[in-house]
Amino acid sequence: MPRATPHKKMQLFRTWLTRCPIWCAWQVNYRCNFQCRFCNYWHDAMGDQPELSVGQFRRGGKKLARLGSVLISLAGGEPLMRPDIVEIVATLAEWHLPFVTTNGWFSTPELAEELCEAGLWGVSVSLDYDNAAQHDAQRGRPGAFERALAALEHFNRARKYDYQRVNWMCVLVDDNLDQIERMIQMAAERGAYFMVQPYSSQKTGSDRFKCANSGTVSRHLMDLRRRYPNFLSNPYFLSKFDQALNGGVPGCMAGRGFFNIDSTGDIAVCVEHRHSPVANLFEHSAQEIVKRLRADPAPRGCMACWYNCRGEIEALYNPVGLLKSMPTFLLDRGKAPRCVRGASQSVTAG
Ligand SMILES: C[S@@+](CC[C@H](N)C(=O)[O-])C[C@H]1O[C@@H](n2cnc3c(N)ncnc32)[C@H](O)[C@@H]1O
Repeated sequence: MPRATPHKKMQLFRTWLTRCPIWCAWQVNYRCNFQCRFCNYWHDAMGDQPELSVGQFRRGGKKLARLGSVLISLAGGEPLMRPDIVEIVATLAEWHLPFVTTNGWFSTPELAEELCEAGLWGVSVSLDYDNAAQHDAQRGRPGAFERALAALEHFNRARKYDYQRVNWMCVLVDDNLDQIERMIQMAAERGAYFMVQPYSSQKTGSDRFKCANSGTVSRHLMDLRRRYPNFLSNPYFLSKFDQALNGGVPGCMAGRGFFNIDSTGDIAVCVEHRHSPVANLFEHSAQEIVKRLRADPAPRGCMACWYNCRGEIEALYNPVGLLKSMPTFLLDRGKAPRCVRGASQSVTAG
């Protein structure tokens, strides 16, 4: 059974205090059932990579627990393609706070219930548009939009513990900025929070999908953040979107605030540096892993992304960002508010 929330939060605080990484992106596979236009994983033949067993997740999770508790984002590939995803979540939830990032295709009411029962900290369902035509085209799969919406509803209904959070996770691209407000509302109608991250060319080698740098994106997003309580992205993170779209944000904390484990147990400072691992989860001690991550010069000067996992974690090392993240970390507010603050329109419960 997953340990009580306060214990894990204390352990997470300990990890942060001792300056160990508090966020781990753990790629459970690289197989994917989608062919997203803005991600190359599916045609890079990465799906052939070996995958860790539940026993290896257990050993690895226990080793990481020597640092304290860690927020673990289980992604890929498509994590729900793994038939043992419930066992993976259950084993990691013994010490850590596991999230799943999914396209939602394989979600069912039963699977959502099993994952919530297993101690899932939260789920992020990827949805980039407010309509099926554009989302399905972007994801290369007819029906993607409807299934993702259904997944939000499955998980919202399946929530078992107060802390369990359901997120609508959006990539800001070249043609969806004007849909963000409607997407926030659609998330609220389904009891979900809304989060956003800018497109990065690192997954495609092309700027084709980059949102235009109008210089007003941050202001627009922060205004929406003020009006919609279910818009969860940290204001510090949002305040730097303009900079991210205009050359990049310096000071990357990859390896210090967060890191990546790939589907073979190799450890790198972030997912985009997975081809240059600095350690292996099963060959090195927890302390050695932290030491090697800190020593890797790769993130110095890197401004190639402003992913959620980077910006939300770096916010915790900034006084304003930390303050704004406190309610998210301290309160078990898994259920997203459905009301609109200071706006004339209201969001109705779905
Ligand atoms: C690589 S996917 C893997 C998990 C799962 N298959 C999914 O679609 O959510 C992880 C996250 O990265 C996002 N993503 C994919 N390509 C991206 C890009 N080029 N820039 C920013 N985010 C991207 C996806 O939308 C998703 O939220």
